[in-house]
Amino acid sequence: MQNIMVTGGAGFIGCNFVRLLLEKYADYKITVYDKLTYAGRLENLQDVAAQYPDRYTFVQGDICDATQVEQTVKDYTIDTIVNFAAESHVDRSIMNPDAFIKTDVYGTYVLLETARKFGNLRYHQISTDEVYGHIHGEERSLETDAMAPRSPYAASKASADHLVNAYYITFGLPITITRGANNIGPFQYPEKVIPLFVTNALNDQKLPVYGDGQQMRDYQYVMDHCEGIDLVLHKGVIGEVYNIGTGKEMTNLAMVEILLDEIGKPRSLIQHVEDRLGHDRRYCMDVRKIIALGWEPDYTCEEAIRATARWYVANRAWWEPILSGEFKEYYQKMYGNRKVLA
Ligand code: NAD
Ligand code: TYD
Repeated sequence: MQNIMVTGGAGFIGCNFVRLLLEKYADYKITVYDKLTYAGRLENLQDVAAQYPDRYTFVQGDICDATQVEQTVKDYTIDTIVNFAAESHVDRSIMNPDAFIKTDVYGTYVLLETARKFGNLRYHQISTDEVYGHIHGEERSLETDAMAPRSPYAASKASADHLVNAYYITFGLPITITRGANNIGPFQYPEKVIPLFVTNALNDQKLPVYGDGQQMRDYQYVMDHCEGIDLVLHKGVIGEVYNIGTGKEMTNLAMVEILLDEIGKPRSLIQHVEDRLGHDRRYCMDVRKIIALGWEPDYTCEEAIRATARWYVANRAWWEPILSGEFKEYYQKMYGNRKVLA
């Protein structure tokens, strides 16, 4: 493993992962292949480009474009593909699922076909806890559980997981899959709940909490997730799935209170609004398998929320320009006419 193509590497988790690989493996060359949708930003990799001019390359391209994907694999003698590229926001998948099906499902198929065509390249798929659907009572999702996705986003990711597994069984493609819990940390596009709430609060705007705010998520620090992916990429058993998360979920309201306290803003900014359609009530995974492989998180959910809030406080220059562009239109569509609950 030496020449790695990281698809979607200009997005939130991808850029953190690229940084980790370049720092950790002095002999690896990384090619980021990214379409640069609204969520992909070259600024996320500016420091990387400056620091590793000989080991990092950027190619702008769509994972659905088989010709360009194949050409890139050839040009950079790629031996490993790590696929982060996806449409990743549940609310957008409810508004318009089209791009989700194209990128998350068909795009994954193109990458798998390319990996097969070039002599069964090592392939790692970044998946999500959302493929399990929402989890009742005290249960925790195991890697062996049947997938039961409930949003168009989750269904597109579950479809991709099925394809990846099918290529392992049918063609012997050397694959692994990781299913991550909710990631938070530097460079997350402010449509996702924590950067949205921190940036709103810093601008003294209301925080739109969906429904009663009692939904539960496992908020994990992005670098913990990236270290888990790195471990599975190098030491994971081929053909296997690994959950990655803290294994301890909290309610959205508890999360909001922590972040408001961290940045010194009042609870009066909380505003309950009309719920998301089909909103999954609780995600929580059993993470014993990745722990047995030798991984452990450095951050609890609370520490991850606090560290993330501090990053947004310190990095206004990164997120302020985002708020004035495409995001403004999206925000108006998503929240402009949303009913406020009593
Ligand atoms: P993101 O939206 O921040 O980044 C996605 C990246 O993919 C962007 O750089 C975008 O330009 C690129 N992209 C989109 N469509 C593309 C296409 N057709 N061709 C090439 N590039 C394309 O997403 P993220 O939060 O960094 O998530 C990365 C991966 O991790 C996704 O597969 C997502 O499903 C998965 N995941 C995310 C979370 C989370 O909490 N954010 C949790 C678990 C798993
Ligand atoms: P999100 O960051 O969109 O991740 P996901 O839906 O993939 O878990 O949302 C996390 C939680 O926060 C989820 O329960 C929905 C909730 N949420 C709000 O209450 N208000 C918001 O404005 C957003 C974007 C999310």
